[in-house]
Amino acid sequence: MTIRFTLNGKEVSFDTDPLRRLLDVLREDFGLFGVKEGCGEGECGACALLIDGELANSCIVPVGTVQNAVIMTIEGFRETERYRVLEKSLADAGSVQCGFCTPGFVMAAEALLRNNPTPDEEAIREAISGNLCRCTGYHMIVEGIVQACRIGAKLWAKPTDR
Ligand code: FES
Ligand code: FES
Repeated sequence: MTIRFTLNGKEVSFDTDPLRRLLDVLREDFGLFGVKEGCGEGECGACALLIDGELANSCIVPVGTVQNAVIMTIEGFRETERYRVLEKSLADAGSVQCGFCTPGFVMAAEALLRNNPTPDEEAIREAISGNLCRCTGYHMIVEGIVQACRIGAKLWAKPTDR
């Protein structure tokens, strides 16, 4: 089956089995290793990305279901000013340690802030509730996102690459 979608701002088209997991297609065919495999069952958020602006776990998405969608992985998000604000805020808050869960948390934060640039702590905790961290706990991650809002709420209020 021929699949077409927009991937990190570029239109792509390729033939593949529509039942392959989006996670595998992105890693194996496009070399996008920011999507990680953790649980492989939609429970940990390590493979999180945005599909049409909504957070999704790519390990449970058959590639045939994202025909004509707009997909953004951490590699695409890294090109934005919003990423730089989030990265610095998370780093300043000592939010994450391992690099394995980090892309998923960052994409969950981006999904939240696109819809709500000024979330309260409860909304932040809810937004990252699908992302597992096995080492630091969540307090510093929440603090990092709070800091990003403080510094960059205007960026999320008017993103130029929706
Ligand atoms: S690997 Fe996809 S949610 Fe865990
Ligand atoms: S910092 Fe990555 S699992 Fe905790």
